[in-house]
Amino acid sequence: MSLEYYVKNIFGKLDEDHFKVLRAIEMNLQAREVVPVEIIGRITGFGWRVEKLLKKLHEYRLIWAPRGVARGYALNYYGMDLLALKALVDKNVIESFGKPIGVGKEADVYDALSPSGVRLAVKFFRIGRTSFRGYEKHRTALMTAHTYMLASMKAAAREYKALRILHPRGVAVPKPVARNRHVVVTEIFYGIEISSAPYIENPVEVLCEIIRNLKLAYEAGVVHSDLSVYNILITPEQKILIIDWPQWVDPKHPMAQRYMVRDMRNLLRFFRRKWNVLELPMECLRLIKDLCGETFNTLMGESRSKGMSG
Ligand SMILES: Nc1ncnc2c1ncn2[C@@H]1O[C@H](COP(=O)(O)OP(=O)(O)OP(=O)(O)O)[C@@H](O)[C@H]1O
Ligand SMILES: [Mg+2]
Repeated sequence: MSLEYYVKNIFGKLDEDHFKVLRAIEMNLQAREVVPVEIIGRITGFGWRVEKLLKKLHEYRLIWAPRGVARGYALNYYGMDLLALKALVDKNVIESFGKPIGVGKEADVYDALSPSGVRLAVKFFRIGRTSFRGYEKHRTALMTAHTYMLASMKAAAREYKALRILHPRGVAVPKPVARNRHVVVTEIFYGIEISSAPYIENPVEVLCEIIRNLKLAYEAGVVHSDLSVYNILITPEQKILIIDWPQWVDPKHPMAQRYMVRDMRNLLRFFRRKWNVLELPMECLRLIKDLCGETFNTLMGESRSKGMSG
């Protein structure tokens, strides 16, 4: 089952009471425990009537009942997804939900529409998803499941924070719209990943533009730290967008310099190998030097030697 399926077929079948029950279970996430049925009944004020609601939620697999524990329930990722969506719909952020536009290891991105018709990208963090799958079978993995959900919320909060710092300063990042739980909503960008761009008209200019943005971000106190060519989007008009910021660090972070060099090395290598960019304008070299300090000469050395050997 995909999230699309849940949104189309389950979301509409839930009423306020179901969401109240989901929220009651979620409140317990920090405690990392299964919530006993009696407690859910008490928190929601539904008493034993809660049984019927729980049964439905369980049938829909929005919650699960670990074996070998006193009767109680824990939240599933889809349960948390629908809670976040419900909040975003109630806050008039999202009006309708669309198709997946990027499904990966640590996040799923869907398109959506705002009530005023703005197209949105809705990113659901799924940290630990791969190790998360078989978790219902193992009581011992329960802690981990909860830890992953909390980690996803933290990652979303962190990415949203970066976008809120960077977007107003003119860095080419998605415009942040809202954040709820493990979900970040931004405006959509009509580009493709630069790794798969079939044609770049002026690769030197595009590379410099990316580096100018890294410099702007640095000055705003943000080092991306995971800048692969899958995290840079480009339009046919050669406009770029840098995405995927949950792992950013402050320039004062002890590893910041190393991350910056790694980001820069990835970037230079891609443009060298795929687009044969071997020389850069002075302005751009100066930015690289500002950002990478000592390592600048090493980076340039790599460029030259690779360039000569083809
Ligand atoms: N604002 C946006 N506009 C258009 N497409 C987007 C936007 N944000 C993300 N995407 C698409 O979704 C994909 C995944 O987004 P992102 O890189 O933020 O998540 P991720 O954590 O890297 O996921 P993965 O596990 O696949 O690496 C992107 O590569 C891009 O194709
Ligand atoms: Mg990515």
